Amino acid sequence: MRTLFVAGNWKMNPTTLEAAVKLAEEVKAGVGQAVNVRVAICPPSLYLYRMDEVLAGSPIGLGAQNMNAKPEGAFTGELSGPMLVDAGCTHVILGHSERRHGHGETDDLVNGKLIAALESRLLPIVCVGETRLERESDMTEDVVGRQLEHSLAGLTPEQMGGVVLAYEPVWAIGTGLTASPTQAQAVHAFIRRHLAAKFGEATASRVVVQYGGSVKPDNAAELLACPDIDGALVGGASLKAADFLGIFHAGQSVVAQGKA
Ligand code: PGA
Repeated sequence: MRTLFVAGNWKMNPTTLEAAVKLAEEVKAGVGQAVNVRVAICPPSLYLYRMDEVLAGSPIGLGAQNMNAKPEGAFTGELSGPMLVDAGCTHVILGHSERRHGHGETDDLVNGKLIAALESRLLPIVCVGETRLERESDMTEDVVGRQLEHSLAGLTPEQMGGVVLAYEPVWAIGTGLTASPTQAQAVHAFIRRHLAAKFGEATASRVVVQYGGSVKPDNAAELLACPDIDGALVGGASLKAADFLGIFHAGQSVVAQGKA
């Protein structure tokens, strides 16, 4: 049984701590003590210590958007797993397409970060997804399969059970274009088959696979109702508490209708 998991990736927003605190407080109030849908927010790292204080007493997880694979040392501008844990983080996003494409992150690099995150006992959210050109060239499964193969290399089935995946078609991120539930479900089912072949059926059935790419309150329910879509990684719509909570509520209604 997998619990739906909705995470907000704030990216490089908002630009003041005051606005970040306000947004986190609104999300905290809206989620209350609900645990039938898991929630996490991933603010800019500069705000993490303060966010941990704001979220005290709430079931909402706190995530970073990236980390370095090394625990400490001479790595200018970087943050390590132990630092994120000290700041109160429970989660970390790894291999987001904006890091893969904008910062040259490779699958091997993501794999190193993943191992380091697990060593720090952070719950990683590993992102995969194809570009528009790759989809149009019918290469979606090749690309996602390769990303999974290399990003998840060396993990035991037990470790894999503690990893969240996010399928985020690059063409749908921040564009207002969303994969249709049919398109998204097809890739999610492919991801689960890939996990089953590599880690076994039992592990594959436990892994939470979020969908990301222009998820909004008005398209969330039909995406979250798909059998292999176990949550959402939300960018733009996570910056307005009402929109993010709308997606959370869509998840709750899908659970109320019988989805685990
Ligand atoms: P978006 O971003 O919801 O703004 O498309 C999703 C993401 O990048 O995780």
